[in-house]
Amino acid sequence: MLLVEKNAMTEEIEALVEQFGKQRSSLLKILHEIQKKHRHIPDFAQQEIARLLDIHPVEVYSVISFYAFLNTEPKGRNIVRVCQSITCDLQGKQAVCNAIEREIGCKFGETSKDKKFHLEFANCLGLCDISPAMAVNEKVYTNLTPEKAVQILNQVK
Ligand code: FES
Repeated sequence: MLLVEKNAMTEEIEALVEQFGKQRSSLLKILHEIQKKHRHIPDFAQQEIARLLDIHPVEVYSVISFYAFLNTEPKGRNIVRVCQSITCDLQGKQAVCNAIEREIGCKFGETSKDKKFHLEFANCLGLCDISPAMAVNEKVYTNLTPEKAVQILNQVK
């Protein structure tokens, strides 16, 4: 990261600390904002957040690793999360996943070559009665079939 980028990142985090407060409970909100803007939380941002909130960098890192929607490396522009819990599994999740992998050209856990999509599994999305379910970025889709999932991804493309 260039010095000018580091300075901009520090200013951005300072503004978020100002907005959300310096207490520990602001950590997740700040991480969420950085993730939203940069699509990941760079090492330097983690250090700065720790410094400005006066907590240990390991604490910042452990929160990032705990939440699936936070990551330390940039992923694809669109994050596709398919529920891998039991009900979705019984409702045909695997066929949906196979169709998604074929359409996007990469496996779950990977980012497509063109960086447009990142595929990953999620735990129960709380939509078991209308499963299988997946989320593409913030939007949730239910009652998936392989065809429906491919159609949705083509709209997102
Ligand atoms: S098991 Fe998939 S939404 Fe609950």
